[in-house]
Amino acid sequence: MTPQQKAAALAAKKGAGFIAALTCYDYPMARLLDEAGIDMLLVGDSLGMVVLGHPDTTHVTLSHILHHLEAVARAKPKALLIADLPIHTYGTPAQALETAQALVAAGADAVKLEGGIRQAEKVHAITAAGIPVCGHLGMLPQRVLEEGGYRKKGRTPEQTQALLEGAGALIEAGVFAIVLESVIPSAARTISRRIPVPTIGIGCGDGTCDGEIAVITDLLGSFPWFVPPFAKPEADLASQTLAATRAYISRVKSPAS
Ligand code: KIV
Repeated sequence: MTPQQKAAALAAKKGAGFIAALTCYDYPMARLLDEAGIDMLLVGDSLGMVVLGHPDTTHVTLSHILHHLEAVARAKPKALLIADLPIHTYGTPAQALETAQALVAAGADAVKLEGGIRQAEKVHAITAAGIPVCGHLGMLPQRVLEEGGYRKKGRTPEQTQALLEGAGALIEAGVFAIVLESVIPSAARTISRRIPVPTIGIGCGDGTCDGEIAVITDLLGSFPWFVPPFAKPEADLASQTLAATRAYISRVKSPAS
C-alpha cells in the first residue's frame, strides 16, 4: 500500500471501527507493536521527555525526530507511520513542506503538526504535495511554555466552537485525521460526532473519539517519574527492569564457585 492508501484506509475507519495508536521511538518496539496489530505508530515529539530526558517537547529538533524515525522505519511497519513536525520547523508553508519532505525521506508515511486555523496554509502546502497530514488540536504541548502549563481544553461552549473551527480549517486543508489532546469528554464527543475525519484522543476520556493514542512508556510503565492521570498502564517495566538489573548485579558480584 502507498502511504496515501494507508492514510485513506485509516480515515475510512471513521464510523467503522476504533483506531488504536501508540507512540514509538525505536526499531525493536516498532516490530513488536506492529506484530501486535497496532493501526498507527507515531514518532512523536514526546520523545523529548520520555526518551531524551527533557522537561517538555520544546527542546526537540528535527534531527532528533529523524534519528528515531529512521530506526522505526527500518522495521517496515504495516501500521501507518506518522512523524511529528517539531517546534520551530513549520513557521511558514515552505518550511513546513520542506520539513515534511525530510520526514517522508526518512520513512514517514504521514506527518503531524500542532494547531488549527493558523496552521491551515501550512497543512495545505504539505497535502498539496501528496503527503498525508494528521492535525493536532486541544492541548498543544509545543505551546506549554506560552500557556504556562498543561490545561484541559473544550471547557466552555466558546472553546468547543473554537476547536470545531480549527478542525474545519484543517479538514479543508486536507488532513485525514485529527489528534485531540486533553479535551474534556463532552467536547471531544461533540467534535468527533460533527467532523468527517477520525479523531484520535489522548486524555479525552474513554470512547469519546474515533480512536485513541497513548505514549508507549505510559502503556508499558517504563517511565515512572511522570505518569499522566489518564494513563492506563498495562505493564510495569520499570519494576521488572529494576528487578532484572538487581538480579544481574548480584549474580555478577557473587559468582557461584
Ligand atoms: O508526541 C506525542 O506523543 C504526541 C501524542 C501526545 C499524540 O503528539
